[in-house]
Amino acid sequence: MTSNASRLEPRQTEDGSFSLFSHQVGEGFHSGRGALAEARQKFVAPAELERWSPGDTVRVLDVCFGTGCNTAALLEAAQQRGLRLEWWGLELDPEPLDLALSHGGFQQQWQPTSLAILEQLRLKGAASQPTESSWSDAALGHGTLLWGDARQRLSELQERQRGCLDLVLMDAFSPSRSPQLWSVEFLSGLGSLLAPRGRLLTYCSAAAVRQALRLAGLEIASIAASSGLRKQKHDWSGGTAASPSSLDGAALLRALSPMEEEHLQTNAAEPYRDPTHRGERSVILRERQKAQQQAMQAGLVEATSSWRRRWGLGKESDNHQ
Ligand SMILES: C[S@@+](CC[C@H](N)C(=O)[O-])C[C@H]1O[C@@H](n2cnc3c(N)ncnc32)[C@H](O)[C@@H]1O
Repeated sequence: MTSNASRLEPRQTEDGSFSLFSHQVGEGFHSGRGALAEARQKFVAPAELERWSPGDTVRVLDVCFGTGCNTAALLEAAQQRGLRLEWWGLELDPEPLDLALSHGGFQQQWQPTSLAILEQLRLKGAASQPTESSWSDAALGHGTLLWGDARQRLSELQERQRGCLDLVLMDAFSPSRSPQLWSVEFLSGLGSLLAPRGRLLTYCSAAAVRQALRLAGLEIASIAASSGLRKQKHDWSGGTAASPSSLDGAALLRALSPMEEEHLQTNAAEPYRDPTHRGERSVILRERQKAQQQAMQAGLVEATSSWRRRWGLGKESDNHQ
């Protein structure tokens, strides 16, 4: 069934887990190979919760919370390790969570406490462990869902959480569909929230996003591509991790390969810019295209097509793979 208002259609992904397809955006919420597999492999695993000890608190922001899949997967992994989450979420549209929570497939996917937390977030925009004695074993300390355009709500987090967060899970639609959430300005804002050893994690390996993260002063690494989510030989990366500190030695992360470094010397690495934090998609895309043309004319960058040929790669895709 498709909702008329936002044209969101429930979909079952290949691992049997629940997802949505947005007809308005023209893109799915998750990898077609598995919403749950993606949450676990691209967000939970590279968070490396083993860095904390039982009883510790992990401070997390879920950007583009959507159905809550990434948060629920993290909550359940944190619970297994005896960790507590102090949690914030950013999301524009309440409908993905409404649809997910009313869907039998989504309900079966999660433990009752995880569903109860998502339901509290849906109803009140907040959830708190001490007020819910039935959650005594749940990993949530406190959660706050900030509804609205993430670009505007981010400043409130910056006032109170600058330099404090351990994890930022960045799961916007692909850069070409939603460039406003992959701009240098927005990614720099997210980066400013990270604690010195904090990590921003995203499924996205686009050169423009990696370049923007570097311009934000962050160290970047590639998330190891998992065979379960890899479709073809040129799915070279499982996404990107970024941190104010070096990511060397992290088990599920690796330095960018020579091929990936060269990708950042091509015109695909021209970042998206949104200096007003209110720019429209079409304007952000047009300005980037202009900057790309200027850089090419000045001979400053290689055409991405010739980089792809040199490395024997197929057509580029920047969405959930
Ligand atoms: C790829 S989906 C996120 C999937 C989500 N992490 C999940 O597990 O279901 C992208 C989400 O971004 C939200 N979104 C789009 N533009 C936004 C904006 N400007 N601010 C906040 N959220 C936005 C959409 O409503 C959608 O839920």
